[in-house]
Amino acid sequence: MTADLLAWLNLGVRWLHLIAGIAWIGSSFYFMWLDARLKADDTTPAGVQGDLWAVHGGGFYHKRKYLSVPPDLPEELHWFKWEAYTTWLSGSALLVLIYYLGAPTYLIDTSKMDLAPWQAIGIGLAFLAGGWILYDGLCRSPLGQRLRLFGAVWFLILTAAAYALSHIFSNRGAFIHLGAIIGTVMVANVFLIIIPNQRKIVAAMLAGQPVDPALGKRGKMRSVHNNYMTLPVLFLMVSNHYPMVIDHPLNWLLVAGIGASGWTIRHYFNRRNAGSGQPMILVNGAVIFLAVMGVALATKPQPAQVAGVVSFSEVQAIVARHCSACHSASPTNPAFAAPPNGVAYDTEADIRRHAPRIYERAVATDSMPLGNETGMTKTERDRLGAWIRAEAK
Ligand code: HEC
Repeated sequence: MTADLLAWLNLGVRWLHLIAGIAWIGSSFYFMWLDARLKADDTTPAGVQGDLWAVHGGGFYHKRKYLSVPPDLPEELHWFKWEAYTTWLSGSALLVLIYYLGAPTYLIDTSKMDLAPWQAIGIGLAFLAGGWILYDGLCRSPLGQRLRLFGAVWFLILTAAAYALSHIFSNRGAFIHLGAIIGTVMVANVFLIIIPNQRKIVAAMLAGQPVDPALGKRGKMRSVHNNYMTLPVLFLMVSNHYPMVIDHPLNWLLVAGIGASGWTIRHYFNRRNAGSGQPMILVNGAVIFLAVMGVALATKPQPAQVAGVVSFSEVQAIVARHCSACHSASPTNPAFAAPPNGVAYDTEADIRRHAPRIYERAVATDSMPLGNETGMTKTERDRLGAWIRAEAK
């Protein structure tokens, strides 16, 4: 019953996370686009940055960006912030529900570091806080003024964090934390910089006082950073579905590469919206992705050949020892009320039917058993693999 309720709580919070996240990303991409497309000419009044006309939903929109208080500013002003806050709050709740309450299963990998749950959680939280402190400090340093160099340095820092995390936590625990570090930086940008600065600007304008232009510039810089970080975060959030990336021995490098391709693709669209998109940038994004794929395939660990023939009864014993606590119609692992993803290995037919996926998760990679809680050995993986390969022939 508790496991059932936890599963529904997980779904409910994840649903909220998706809904809020999509609303946030949608409005953030829209405003980046809008800013890049505003046009000014000699008829543009003073205090206006530019105008834009668009057609959507059977009507015409006329957008105008004022840099000072417009003469007829209405009472009702839309602020865009709850999308971001809700995304972070629901994401944090998911992190706690899955990775912190389920730390032994999802976060800790004793073959990397034999941590107690409180230690693992402490390290995770320290990375989240440390990420923001480092990022914010760099933004305020002279480096913050140099967008490209800043991007390169921040990228290297994140890659170093990926390397460190992947040597501390289970692979999925590592990369969800990397995503959470970036997500936290993005939301803190909204909560601690962009919105407070906007409030000060609006207050000064309404009071008829001069506005410090640095306030708007600083907020805009953070929102550009957020825009570049969006696509890498999205990949990290779904990365646990791709064991060929996150369970690869070079996982930190592959993830950095996919992040760089997202960064590059975003750059192309930003340039294009500003009227100077070079298709080569988009091609570079694709080339980076293909290079990641090439490296992953070329350096993929190969299962060793084993002597003799592996019998089905041996395979069944391996599965019973390492998989059945979770992958059974009635799991004995208390964290599961039903077999994960509906996949059970109770009968010979089950095991044969799922053999290719078993190969992917427990032979080609060591993605399963989760966190290798049962201590499955390389020899067992190789023997399981030999049987699956022989059956497939
Ligand atoms: C501690 C519980 C646990 C154990 C033990 C475990 N798994 Fe899993 N397994 C999961 C969970 C949770 C998921 C769903 C999350 C995911 O897809 O990563 C999963 C998903 C899978 C999937 C993907 C299913 C699909 O087709 O969508 C495969 C394949 C798999 N496990 C194979 C194995 C094998 C083989 C073993 C034994 C060597 C094993 N698992 C041991 C918990 C476990």
